[in-house]
Amino acid sequence: MKDQAEQLRRRLSEKREPEKKSHTIAVASGKGGVGKSNFTLNFALSLAKEGQRVLLLDLDIGMGNIEVLMGESSKLSIVDFFDRSAPLSEIIQTGPYGLSYITGGSGLAALFELGEVQFSYFLSELEGVFSRYDYILFDMGAGLTEESLKFMLSVNEIFLLTTEEPTSLTDAYAVVKLISQREKDMKFSMIVNRVEKAAEGRGVYSRFSSALYKFLKVEIKLLALLPEDDSLRKAVKRQSPIVTEFPKALFSKVMEETARRFLQARQGGMPAGTNQASFAEKLRTFFRKGGSKSG
Ligand SMILES: Nc1ncnc2c1ncn2[C@@H]1O[C@H](COP(=O)(O)OP(=O)(O)OP(=O)(O)O)[C@@H](O)[C@H]1O
Ligand SMILES: [Mg+2]
Repeated sequence: MKDQAEQLRRRLSEKREPEKKSHTIAVASGKGGVGKSNFTLNFALSLAKEGQRVLLLDLDIGMGNIEVLMGESSKLSIVDFFDRSAPLSEIIQTGPYGLSYITGGSGLAALFELGEVQFSYFLSELEGVFSRYDYILFDMGAGLTEESLKFMLSVNEIFLLTTEEPTSLTDAYAVVKLISQREKDMKFSMIVNRVEKAAEGRGVYSRFSSALYKFLKVEIKLLALLPEDDSLRKAVKRQSPIVTEFPKALFSKVMEETARRFLQARQGGMPAGTNQASFAEKLRTFFRKGGSKSG
């Protein structure tokens, strides 16, 4: 054990690439099964297709979906990193358009149980890896755990996915409430999925955003209205992402358009935001807070 710590300390002192500002996004929802994994995967692919360097991290604890949706069974996951300190770069896999991804497998909780040295090693690995990408997307599990909350509070922005169903909306509201209480400057965007009539989807967004503003003083932008599309179900069954399997499907078209608009808005000189600290720095702060609990 002592040897391992020693080894990690040595590796820590060896490589210290400063983290280039990659943009981190957590895709979250209140209720489960609303389409997070499919959105995240296909949005990531659409960004990659536009020439962006994208890393997708499957953080759905215990039931990572991304590898199933990709039809790939990976030999390595984030668990290998925790269990035997495998370099993060070793567990990164490559998908279509050069998309990089890391499959989940098991607990974020394990991360917060790491000792100080191991945790520093994890963060330095993260900084090194992140610096090679333009966008880092986190596919979060449904709802919130103490651990996933720490991750979400550390990102640059949150994409909130919901359907038009009231249950999905109230759960999404609860997520925004919890996060905005802890991080006032968090940036939120909303994606309404399984929309059948655009006007209705827009109405849902409009009522939701008004409520957020009225009761929480939080603003949320509309990122996309994603159509209900049978091709998505077919793609899931074939274990192939819809944007590569059915590029002409409506869902794929909307996804492509959403990625383009998103990139344009970012290029249009969106303010750097108040969140100047890097993802790793913020996560470190939350880890310390959690680690030195005194009451
Ligand atoms: N736009 C859509 N059109 C048709 N079916 C959809 C659409 N979005 C999602 N679905 C269906 O919902 C299922 C669940 O989607 P997905 O796995 O992406 O949800 P999730 O939010 O990641 O779920 P979990 O919370 O369990 O991780 C899909 O397999 C598909 O059958
Ligand atoms: Mg999922």
